[in-house]
Amino acid sequence: MIFETNTIEEVKVWVNAGPTSDFPEDGGSSIFYEGEQIAIFNFSHLNKWFATQNLCPHKKQMILSRGMLGTEGDTPKVACPYHKKTFSLETGENLNGCEDSIKTFPIKIENDTVFVGLYEKK
Ligand code: FES
Repeated sequence: MIFETNTIEEVKVWVNAGPTSDFPEDGGSSIFYEGEQIAIFNFSHLNKWFATQNLCPHKKQMILSRGMLGTEGDTPKVACPYHKKTFSLETGENLNGCEDSIKTFPIKIENDTVFVGLYEKK
């Protein structure tokens, strides 16, 4: 079932999300794993990668991987393409203060391959 974690210490499995070349620069793409959609962002402008749930909590759309990347102060964020709600890519906090936050996941790059860290819930 659903996997989630916020810390590397809790990671139970590193899921191979594919080669880095599958993910557009300064953009995102989603993967399916165990029935869940995970958005992966290649924030090349900051030379950082992020992983979050793909579901936007506003209207329950699987769309965040197609969001626009940017920053708010020092906080990297994604703006949902539908109604422009924004979320921190580091903590998942809703930066508009009006919707639920989103889950974030550890991510790492090894040998030009993207891995997302997940924890299996009981
Ligand atoms: S569905 Fe994402 S902001 Fe409305």
